[in-house]
Amino acid sequence: MKIEINQQLLVSEIEQLATFSDADPPAVTRVVFTSTDLKARAWMKDRCRNAGLIVREDAIGNTFARWVGSDSAAPVVGTGSHIDAIPNAGKYDGVVGVLGGLEAIRALQRAQFRPRHSIELLIFTSEEPTRFGIGCLGSRLLSGTLSVDSARKLADNDGSTVEDIRRRAGFSGELSQVKLPDNYYKGFVELHIEQGPLLEQEGKILGLVEKIAAPASLRVTIEGEGGHAGAVLMPNRHDALCAAAELILSLESAARTSGAIDTVATVGICDVFPGAVNSIPAKVRLSVDVRDTDLTRREVVLKKLEETCRTTSAERQVAIHSELLNADAPAQCDPAILQALRESCQRRQFSFLTMTSRAYHDSLFMSRIAPVSMLFIPCRHGYSHRPDEYASPEDIARGTLVLAETLSGLAA
Ligand code: GLV
Ligand code: MN
Ligand code: MN
Repeated sequence: MKIEINQQLLVSEIEQLATFSDADPPAVTRVVFTSTDLKARAWMKDRCRNAGLIVREDAIGNTFARWVGSDSAAPVVGTGSHIDAIPNAGKYDGVVGVLGGLEAIRALQRAQFRPRHSIELLIFTSEEPTRFGIGCLGSRLLSGTLSVDSARKLADNDGSTVEDIRRRAGFSGELSQVKLPDNYYKGFVELHIEQGPLLEQEGKILGLVEKIAAPASLRVTIEGEGGHAGAVLMPNRHDALCAAAELILSLESAARTSGAIDTVATVGICDVFPGAVNSIPAKVRLSVDVRDTDLTRREVVLKKLEETCRTTSAERQVAIHSELLNADAPAQCDPAILQALRESCQRRQFSFLTMTSRAYHDSLFMSRIAPVSMLFIPCRHGYSHRPDEYASPEDIARGTLVLAETLSGLAA
């Protein structure tokens, strides 16, 4: 079977999808269930139908596009990723796995491959935590990792709940129906940009993911006392932002001194109220993101944060409340899928690195219900989550080729 990737078409589709954006090019902003996201979804569904795939959506908006196999009752071979993009993102995160997955299917169709197992492209809802504070909403529900009740109550910054927002976006089915039945999948493979610099540094063409690091996130609220920036003297202050600064630096230090380079901690959001030049910060809301490949080490960092919250609260006489949004276990990828990816790389003479994904992905949650692995392509300087994110057409095509070959092996 001769599989050929239409590199030009694939790259032009990536460019077209990037035009569905609420930011000026080259930046892409596509937040889940905005009208821009809904237009991008409609465009994607058209591309899938044009390829002869049968499209269905579930109640949270996960979109499945199926190439029906000759044994339609056999477990499905899945691929896919996400098309939502954080504010001021690039064109490739998630998109390469969705449009690459679609092109892999079309390449197999052109090669006259006849799958026994159905091959299904999956576009996950809200991999990014931008709107609801928690990443991988769609795959958490598909895998039963997040309860329907908890999902329903998640809210965005305007206080609108997932339940209301998804219904307004046209997804009106029952959330309880989203979880996939047992043994739905034979395997799931996600193509993605690396989002780190290792492949480029090591001069390797592809990354075969054997482990996905474990993310945890929290929302921390600090309430101090506001007042006039000129009139309230320093000994009398309970400045919420100064307390936040102590927490942030202590968190950084806990991650830096964990004993392993794999521990990372980030405060990416710091909302200050009332946010006026001449007003002492009365309230601060922080987002905290902690990840590690080792759960015990991650726990040590979270414990240290808890302890700093207690001591800072006492010393500065501010109230600190922290809410754990998620604390997920890492994923181990499936040895048989890894072997299939390895063999495809060897056949094509593509050099590869076996690696850990430090970013999280929907595959982390799919691993709870299916054998999974991921395939990484290099991205320039390891840049991601920024407008100058870039993957070369050749790398995208090579990743898509190995994906297609691996899907065909799993679906035969
Ligand atoms: C996913 O986008 C992540 O933050 O790892
Ligand atoms: Mn991302
Ligand atoms: Mn992604």
